[in-house]
Amino acid sequence: MTSGRSFYITTPIYYPSDVPHIGHGYTTVAVDTLARWHRQAGDDTWMLTGTDEHGQKMMRAASANGSTPQEWVDKLVSQEWFPLLNTLDVANDDFIRTTQPRHEERVKQFVQAIYDRGYIYAGEFEALYCVGCEEFKTESEIVDGEGPFEGLKVCAIHSKPLELLQEKNYFFKLSEFQDKLLELYSTVPDFIRPESARNEVVSFVKNGLKDLSISRSTFDWGITVPWDESHVIYVWVDALLNYATAVGYSSDPAEFARRWPAYHVVGKDILRFHAVIWPAMLMAAGVEVPRGVFAHGWLLVGGEKMSKSKLTGIAPTEITEVFGSDAYRFYFLSAIAFGQDGSFSWEDLSARYQSELANGFGNLASRTTAMVDRYFEGVVPPAGAYSEADLGIQKVVRDAATMADSAIERFRIDEAIDHIWAIVEALNGYITENEPWALAKDETQRERLGTVLYTCAEGLRALAVLLSPVMPVSTEKLWVALGAPETLGRLQDQPIRDAGGWGILPAGSSVSALAPLFPRVEQTV
Ligand code: MSP
Repeated sequence: MTSGRSFYITTPIYYPSDVPHIGHGYTTVAVDTLARWHRQAGDDTWMLTGTDEHGQKMMRAASANGSTPQEWVDKLVSQEWFPLLNTLDVANDDFIRTTQPRHEERVKQFVQAIYDRGYIYAGEFEALYCVGCEEFKTESEIVDGEGPFEGLKVCAIHSKPLELLQEKNYFFKLSEFQDKLLELYSTVPDFIRPESARNEVVSFVKNGLKDLSISRSTFDWGITVPWDESHVIYVWVDALLNYATAVGYSSDPAEFARRWPAYHVVGKDILRFHAVIWPAMLMAAGVEVPRGVFAHGWLLVGGEKMSKSKLTGIAPTEITEVFGSDAYRFYFLSAIAFGQDGSFSWEDLSARYQSELANGFGNLASRTTAMVDRYFEGVVPPAGAYSEADLGIQKVVRDAATMADSAIERFRIDEAIDHIWAIVEALNGYITENEPWALAKDETQRERLGTVLYTCAEGLRALAVLLSPVMPVSTEKLWVALGAPETLGRLQDQPIRDAGGWGILPAGSSVSALAPLFPRVEQTV
């Protein structure tokens, strides 16, 4: 069921120096939702995620835990990062680890290729480095330390002291790409989204680019520089290349041609790596630049970026064990405008769970299936003549499907959910106005009752299809309860761009009992 249009989308690859928190989960479920939508639209979709396993941060975390770096990453990846995908019901197509031979070999080939093309030279370097960011810092990114770090220069993101590094390094001639990058941003205006992120990068590049140190010689936990074994490749260069090595760069030209270029979704803290350094590296190698980079905002706790190092990290399982994975996905993707920061609070999560999921969508599904069961012995009745109100619902469904698809094209998952939610609200209002329970008491209204319940069941069919990329678990339960697998086939095979049509669920489908999709949770907060 593929249209041939390639849609390759990636998450950043995560540092497995520590356990995942809800910020990592946020990026991952957003990408998974976009990938599921495109897959269901028939696009030739590929979703990649993975782990970024080299560098100093990893070495230090391992030694602090009495392990070798390899033992440490193997343990964290198998015990924490793989299971996260199950916890959040993520349907990734591949998972790349930067310690895999398939990656290491291809990284060497890439770096050798840009060396051969004259974009790398050896030089001396002295600058302040943040191990948390794995990045040299410029003046504007350095602030004065507070508390235990008073009197020291600290990283503006991590609030931890910087280290003065002085080494012989290899440099990438990033400064040569300033004009080409500015041309890219102007000829492909949506290369960087949202607009605010684009503006920030454009003004950063206009201010001038410095060459980039791309090797380190004081430790060995990395991929060796092919022409100088005393250096390892800078962890960010190694990491960015995962997007290409995972889809066959330099090893499988057919696969690479099929998938590449990619869309990258990243947190705004790592936008410059993706929107400046990465396209410049690709230009240097003569490889096509990505299709686009979308920067999302941060989850804030107490007004600050949530992070493990600041002890504000919340594990995704703390949420999924109480509310389920669908609620996790729905909450973060609908409550935060994609591209902006959002504050997380347990109160907001419980309130939205109750009002939007339990009372809104869940209740609509339970009421409709229960009424078809009670009044039509569990068989979806045929619709009779449609009234204005029924046609109004059909229009809401049609418009919601079209607008949601165009919001997804713009990566605005939150807007897509908003449009789809118009169907939930319209149908709940329609039930209140049409009072099927009253129609059921009057034998002469039998046909009208059938039309009303058909309208509700068919509206739910559209909701199951449109919401399945966001909430794969509850929509599958609803799909089964509507008897749709027997008449329409698997939920994930329903073409999402046709979901706004009408009359798709056949009358005669047999509806079965539906346990509450979003059961009441004990108040723990
Ligand atoms: N390893 C690098 C990425 C290399 S990609 C070639 C890295 N890893 S990370 O584990 O620190 O972060 C990965 C992603 O998680 C980033 O997109 C980052 O923005 C996101 N988040 C980390 N904390 C976050 C929040 N508090 N809120 C939202 N996203 C956050 O950077």
